[in-house]
Amino acid sequence: MSEIKACLFDLDGVIVDTAVYHYRAWKRLANELGFDFTEEDNEKLKGISRVRSLELILEWGGVVKSEEERSELATRKNDWYVEMVSSMEPEDILPGAAEFLRKVKAAGLKTALGSASKNSGLILEKTGLLPLFDAVLDGNSVATSKPDPEIFLKGAEALGVRPENCVVFEDAVAGIDAAKAGGMKAVGIGSAQVLYKADLVIRGLFEMSLEQLDNL
Ligand code: BG6
Ligand code: MG
Repeated sequence: MSEIKACLFDLDGVIVDTAVYHYRAWKRLANELGFDFTEEDNEKLKGISRVRSLELILEWGGVVKSEEERSELATRKNDWYVEMVSSMEPEDILPGAAEFLRKVKAAGLKTALGSASKNSGLILEKTGLLPLFDAVLDGNSVATSKPDPEIFLKGAEALGVRPENCVVFEDAVAGIDAAKAGGMKAVGIGSAQVLYKADLVIRGLFEMSLEQLDNL
């Protein structure tokens, strides 16, 4: 049993399903560079920063680029991604996510976003979710990526809640590892086989209730 006072949420794959946009943009880039990029490859990039994702993709394609070229390629991918997410709207929120956030706030608990994405602000604004978060921590707020706990620890600090009173909702192994490294509870969204280190695994926030928080 734990006393949960704050809920910290990953964005991509937990609140919105942006993986498909990341996939399309990375695939377009890989194809321009002369190799393919599959949905399976995309899965491995969940929770991984843009810079690291590009390094991995170039490695998989057997392509070597200078730091300057990599920076240009990352910008090109991001421009396509931003173009796609710019047309997102409240209908694109994953089932049960907004409802659960509202319940959490109504119960007097704090909420924070903890996402590796530097586009978090834009997505929260487009989907109308921004007012449901007491704090927003994204790829611009941290020096280290998940599985380092920095983003969640900073989120807890911003909310004034101790890590042991926080629960993190995550769809990526790197994110569950980050939550655990920070001394927090973790709820996995996805497969229990993959996210086996989580305290509880659900299919989506539509399955989550406040009562379940008491049993973590
Ligand atoms: C994470 C995604 O949320 O954000 C990753 O799961 C993505 O796939 C990362 O690479 C960084 O996102 P962005 O928007 O800053 O390129
Ligand atoms: Mg995610």
